[in-house]
Amino acid sequence: MQYDESKFRAFFADAPADIDMALLDMARIPRHISCIMDGNGRWATARGLARTEGHKAGIVSLREIITAAVRLGVDVLSAYAFSTENWNRPQHEVNVLMHLFAKTFIDELPLLKRENVRVVFLGDISALPKRTRDVFEYGLAECKEHAGMVLALAVNYGGRAEIARAAQQLAARVVSGELSVEDIDEQAISKNLYTAGLPDPELVIRTSGEMRVSNYLLWQIAYAEFYITDTYWPDFDRWGLVRAILAFQGRDRRFGGLSSASA
Ligand code: FPP
Repeated sequence: MQYDESKFRAFFADAPADIDMALLDMARIPRHISCIMDGNGRWATARGLARTEGHKAGIVSLREIITAAVRLGVDVLSAYAFSTENWNRPQHEVNVLMHLFAKTFIDELPLLKRENVRVVFLGDISALPKRTRDVFEYGLAECKEHAGMVLALAVNYGGRAEIARAAQQLAARVVSGELSVEDIDEQAISKNLYTAGLPDPELVIRTSGEMRVSNYLLWQIAYAEFYITDTYWPDFDRWGLVRAILAFQGRDRRFGGLSSASA
């Protein structure tokens, strides 16, 4: 995506000593960057705060990463906000998260408008509390014409459930005679995922040091590069994002073939 050079320079002025911005190759910014925003609870506990304070701090980080991604010209930024397994958390924490999701979407509408960001949800949002759902629907309508970066928020999302849902949708079309079994190829499955029409993530960032995929975008991350940092999500900022992209740009992506150096 086109990026604004002067806004980029202003946003990324004063880099910390370990980052040389001249090394960033703007022609090789990942089109789709995905974040597994982990460590909010531990961030809060380490400060003697309630876990929910960690989620509030996590929203501040998300806001910074959205702006940073726009400044870098990223096409799609996705973030794992709530998994299908997260319903098992204490009821109070689930309630706070549902409230925060709705409140954040409304609070951030001016940012989404200013930066021309379109939001899509990945996951089954029909199972969310009505108030959260209503706010999501309102917010989606407010930014549906935006033609800039896509912000894909995974809420009530599970990768296996997503693939099973795609299989069901395709099977139903075979039963109705609309499709033949041979039509079910990789493209057909991709088109029936929540991410239909979006490029696959090239870079997945997981904060807080965990080395797991956690049922996230299982189909879409087939060839993604992983970047794992010990930083807790509320401490992850624009410079963390730049470090991740620099690491990505230093990787030799072979997609199952030979190294570009040995070709
Ligand atoms: C993981 O930390 C984080 C979450 C489960 C929620 C993240 C959500 C946000 C930052 C808000 C997103 C906003 C919108 C509008 C969708 P954790 O609780 O698993 O931390 P822990 O591993 O330390 O317990």
